[in-house]
Amino acid sequence: MLEANISQQNISQRNPTILVTGGAGYIGSHAVLALQQAGFRVVVLDNLVYGHRELVEDELQVELVVGDTNDRLLLDQIFASHHIAAVMHFAAYAYVGESVSDPGKYYRNNVLGTLTLLEAMVAANVKRFVFSSTCATYGVPKTIPIPEDHPQDPINPYGASKLMVERILGDFDVAHDLKSVYFRYFNAAGADPQSRLGEDHNPETHLIPLVLMAALGKRDSISVFGTDYPTPDGTCIRDYIHVADLARAHVLGVKYLLEGGNSNGFNLGNGSGFSVRQVIDAARQVTGREIKVVECDRRPGDPPALVGSSEKAQQILGWQSQYADLDQILTHAWKWHQKRHTQAST
Ligand SMILES: NC(=O)c1ccc[n+]([C@@H]2O[C@H](COP(=O)([O-])OP(=O)(O)OC[C@H]3O[C@@H](n4cnc5c(N)ncnc54)[C@H](O)[C@@H]3O)[C@@H](O)[C@H]2O)c1
Repeated sequence: MLEANISQQNISQRNPTILVTGGAGYIGSHAVLALQQAGFRVVVLDNLVYGHRELVEDELQVELVVGDTNDRLLLDQIFASHHIAAVMHFAAYAYVGESVSDPGKYYRNNVLGTLTLLEAMVAANVKRFVFSSTCATYGVPKTIPIPEDHPQDPINPYGASKLMVERILGDFDVAHDLKSVYFRYFNAAGADPQSRLGEDHNPETHLIPLVLMAALGKRDSISVFGTDYPTPDGTCIRDYIHVADLARAHVLGVKYLLEGGNSNGFNLGNGSGFSVRQVIDAARQVTGREIKVVECDRRPGDPPALVGSSEKAQQILGWQSQYADLDQILTHAWKWHQKRHTQAST
């Protein structure tokens, strides 16, 4: 019996199990794939409000627990029945506009859901946590590219909810020795290079999938919000980071923590910005299709430019982006959207 226990322990040390919340969503599913490729075992917790069951069960073939991070009883059961070494927490709501009109929904899910999860972790003595934060915690940047020590002053409840969690993580480290890595992502984009996974939000609000849906004829046109920003072509500039690069950073983050690393926060971007017009032009080249543009007024709360410096992640985690090229990001996304479109119409 003792021998069996010891060998069980060795197996779990060799292939630690990671609980991935929101693993049925866009970035979470790519992180599950990267974890599997790195030899980790994975359990996914997702309430499927926005996630896709078939990605987890058919494509990734990992255990899916359908449930909510606000469900403390369920969390206790998961921690009691699995040897969880660390948690990667993607589960959240992420629609900026909705967070302004319904802030309670965002604080309840993004802050209370995370707090419930952290308390369950402490009770189960699971002390390693990787968290999806966002560049939206910076608000309107004063310097570009934005370093991690730039003041954080979010201009919407979504960004505020993520900043609150960052604060909670600092306090949980002091009180409970719970070590965390939080990543402030810039604009996640692209798809698994082998088209097994991709971006499928509903509703979709992100520029690249919207542009590609217009190229596929699933939308009439693409709306460009604001053409009078103080940028070279008048449209907003954003830093696009390939989702596979984000996923690899998460694997490095969890390894860093499992090897005894201290709590730390990192930007994840490419350090170069592309305007909305540049993205649309590049999408025309990659797809070979015409994409109709409708110019609209600015949306409130859109900073003119958001570009991040990821030097810290490079130095401390040894992270490098493999797919920094915008054409490559678009090519992977386009391949996946075409596959999805073909599947949907057969
Ligand atoms: N997509 C981006 O560009 C971007 C940028 C910065 C930060 N983020 C953050 O990254 C994370 C993942 O984003 P995404 O684009 O993959 O979103 P997504 O909606 O595709 O994935 C989130 C997943 O979490 C699940 N979920 C939500 N609340 C839950 C809860 N209480 N319990 C269980 N499951 C729950 C949803 O069903 C969904 O599958 C989010 O935390 C988001 O705030 C995303």
